[in-house]
Amino acid sequence: MHFFRQAFTFSLFLACYWAMQVSANELTSVEQKAATCFVCHGDKGKSGDAQWPSLAAQQSVYIVNQLKAYKSGERKNAVMQAQTSKLTVEDINNYGAYFAVQQPAKAGGDPALVQKGKDKAAVCLGCHGTSGEGNGEFPRLAGQHPDYLTKQLTDYKSGSRINGAMQAIAGNLSEDEIKALAAFFGFL
Ligand code: HEC
Ligand code: HEC
Repeated sequence: MHFFRQAFTFSLFLACYWAMQVSANELTSVEQKAATCFVCHGDKGKSGDAQWPSLAAQQSVYIVNQLKAYKSGERKNAVMQAQTSKLTVEDINNYGAYFAVQQPAKAGGDPALVQKGKDKAAVCLGCHGTSGEGNGEFPRLAGQHPDYLTKQLTDYKSGSRINGAMQAIAGNLSEDEIKALAAFFGFL
């Protein structure tokens, strides 16, 4: 009996060890595949160009949701629809896991606007995190390019990007408020 228990514990140990090895190897192979994403989103997901959002340190659940939404056409963007058309659920989960653990980017923002944005941002932090770090389905906003954030808020406001909560929130923001909030979160 004792022997069986030990043998069982040992095989459990082997199984866990194997799982850890696989996941470390998997992240390396995901990084190789993600080279196609780095072309636009920057090395390890730190984008140097505002037309392409940073993915580094983004919430994995949010990344997975967005990749599925591009693939299904629910979130409309020709470039990302093409990028996701051939991705499997496994690829999508792997990209979510990979980008979520990379070091965050810091885009910066116009200092005068940052202060104005700070005064308006309290209402956002409940969902997006007290430091804009995000949480699960709520995306990280901290360090993102202000011009990208401005475009997304404008798209929610116009209804070209669909999400009940964000359309209601962005619908009540003026163009100036959007620019100030985007500068504040880019600076965080
Ligand atoms: C040719 C350039 C290009 C390539 C290559 C590319 N993307 Fe994108 N990606 C974009 C653009 C542009 C957007 C913003 C589109 C929009 O406004 O909806 C975007 C948006 C995203 C978003 C949403 C980010 C957010 O904050 O909502 C995710 C996630 C994403 N891309 C993941 C990937 C992954 C994973 C790959 C590689 C498999 C990839 N992208 C390859 C251009 C690219
Ligand atoms: C009730 C929760 C909630 C509140 C409050 C909220 N958001 Fe959001 N926000 C979300 C969710 C959920 C998403 C992702 C929606 C989707 O999938 O398109 C999102 C997405 C966004 C995006 C898109 C990010 C990206 O990477 O594309 C921006 C920008 C944003 N929110 C800004 C704000 C700002 C600024 C405020 C405050 C004025 C705010 N949000 C308040 C829930 C919230």
